[in-house]
Amino acid sequence: MKSLIVANWKCNPTTLKEAKGLFDSVKKALLRQRLRTGEGIKNIKNVEVVLCPPFIYLSSFKFQVSSFKLGAQNCFWEEKGAYTGEISPLMIKNLGIEYVIVGHSERRKYFRETDEEINKKIKKALSVGLKIILCVGETTEEKEQGKKQQVLIAQIEKALDRIPRDEMKNISVAYEPVWAIGTGNNCSTDETMKSIISIRQIITRLYNRETADKVRIIYGGSVNGENSGSYLKESLANGLLVGGASLKPEEFIKIVRSAT
Ligand code: PGA
Repeated sequence: MKSLIVANWKCNPTTLKEAKGLFDSVKKALLRQRLRTGEGIKNIKNVEVVLCPPFIYLSSFKFQVSSFKLGAQNCFWEEKGAYTGEISPLMIKNLGIEYVIVGHSERRKYFRETDEEINKKIKKALSVGLKIILCVGETTEEKEQGKKQQVLIAQIEKALDRIPRDEMKNISVAYEPVWAIGTGNNCSTDETMKSIISIRQIITRLYNRETADKVRIIYGGSVNGENSGSYLKESLANGLLVGGASLKPEEFIKIVRSAT
């Protein structure tokens, strides 16, 4: 399966000009990488790169995308209607965007997003044809109380409630221990591997082995150009979800390169 490298820009940058600058730099660096590896501009073999800028910039980028894909960082659970301030999965799909991140810990924390809401979002997003990056992971307290496994089971079971087996090919799961996000305190490759194996076992129990084996399980939390390769090589991660380092084009490309 192709590795999935996702850039989560979060709520950055603050001007369209800066966003375009960042987008162009990543695009150019990716293009240089492709030329270097002699693979033309369409594809770096075995890697799928998805950039997730804030909603407001998505339409400015959509016509320029050739070398990578675009994703949204969130979506609502209805297609349209009287829901002031929300962005629907259908709007995202109709803009030509392929991916959406659902259940990021910052949404769970700051916007009190629940597992039930995450499940509704996933269902609607799948129904309009979007691909999902579902984020799961334990907080510091849950880790200290030895509850990681319990948390992963509950988050995954609830998020995937009544999602049919044949939709699982459109879902990737990001293991993002909350204590590792934006802290520089990244999870060890050994611990990451254990979590990835657990997640695959949970999906196997909910569906079957064949289905679970096709789901990409990626890691996120203080990934940078130095540590990215070890996650991909040593922890069985099928890709990476990158926050802070995705705002630095050269660093991000280093991460992409480590997956090639
Ligand atoms: P980070 O963020 O790479 O800045 O830790 C990862 C994420 O929140 O997806």
